[in-house]
Amino acid sequence: MKTLQSVGIAAIGAYAPPAVLTNFDLEKIVDTSDEWIRTRSGISTRHIADPDTATSDLGVQAARVALERAALTPDEVDLLIVATVTPDYLIPATSCVVQHKLGAMNAAVFDVVAACTGFIYALNVGYAMLASRGYRNTLVIGADALSRVTDYTDRGTCVLLGDGAGAVVLKPVPEGRGFLSFYLRADGSGVELLNIPSGGSRRPTTEETVRAREHFIRMNGSEIFKFAVRVTEEAVVTVLERAGLTTDDVNLIVPHQANIRIIDAAAKRLNIPPERWGINIAEYGNTSAASIPMALNEVYEQGRLKEGDVVVIVGFGGGLTWGASVLRW
Ligand code: ACO
Repeated sequence: MKTLQSVGIAAIGAYAPPAVLTNFDLEKIVDTSDEWIRTRSGISTRHIADPDTATSDLGVQAARVALERAALTPDEVDLLIVATVTPDYLIPATSCVVQHKLGAMNAAVFDVVAACTGFIYALNVGYAMLASRGYRNTLVIGADALSRVTDYTDRGTCVLLGDGAGAVVLKPVPEGRGFLSFYLRADGSGVELLNIPSGGSRRPTTEETVRAREHFIRMNGSEIFKFAVRVTEEAVVTVLERAGLTTDDVNLIVPHQANIRIIDAAAKRLNIPPERWGINIAEYGNTSAASIPMALNEVYEQGRLKEGDVVVIVGFGGGLTWGASVLRW
């Protein structure tokens, strides 16, 4: 049996659609205020895809940036994974649409569905498929157009959600670099805490389900909030332990961007100072599977990622799902 190949992130890219929905715009749509949204969530704006732009289009834009930075052409990609909960179609996978638009015709492709934890799940799968020496140039994309499943009459959810995509190129790296550990979990007893009730095989779309607005995201905000703080701490501590590291070793931590108060509470519990967190929630809100790679891209572009740095990513979401990874940049 061959030993496992070390794998790391060779390049990163992100894309946000240009149109911006501000808190002041939302004040005109639902009973809310800029002050409430900023103090309760840390969000000021979110980017919204125009009607002609689907999740695959967001993913393709992010992938193009990552491929260019990796100096790869699309035909050199041998594995392409898309994490999303807002697929272009129920059939086929969004990764098929991305493959065609990108011209990545030599790639094996599939989607991963784990809500806001989707990007970390997809990374772990991509890592494992490279580590077993089957693939060399892997694209992992986190893309979501949450605006398409957002109920703009529900102030409890519509102020939080936005659209975007992030992408990374995974490649073999020297031993000791790249991914050091992963930690993935799920608890299906929480299905009802965050879901889109209709449109699947349990409750196919009918006039009645549409009238009841069941094709939009429903969420128990306060229960998700408590769960998120608890599992963020648990995931970071566990994934660091698996890598033989502690919170003192962490140079940068990039969390899922759902609510600034969740991040602040987790930061306090973990005792990791604010300057070591990568946060961009104010501009983008919660973009589900795109949130971590978009924030990672931002810290990369800010020059905050140095060679050899210990970087933690951590996320949680519908399912319920949660997870984390540690890598040496
Ligand atoms: N504007 C004004 N008031 C509001 C708004 C709003 N946008 N939203 C809720 N309120 C009201 C509520 O109706 C409630 O009023 P009431 O006391 O009269 O009933 C009051 O504010 C307090 O509501 P809470 O739910 O206790 O407010 P909280 O401080 O918990 O904030 C929030 C709500 C922002 C939803 C928070 O619970 C949260 O962020 N939860 C986690 C969400 C999340 O991370 N989701 C995960 C991912 S989403 C995905 O996977 C796609």
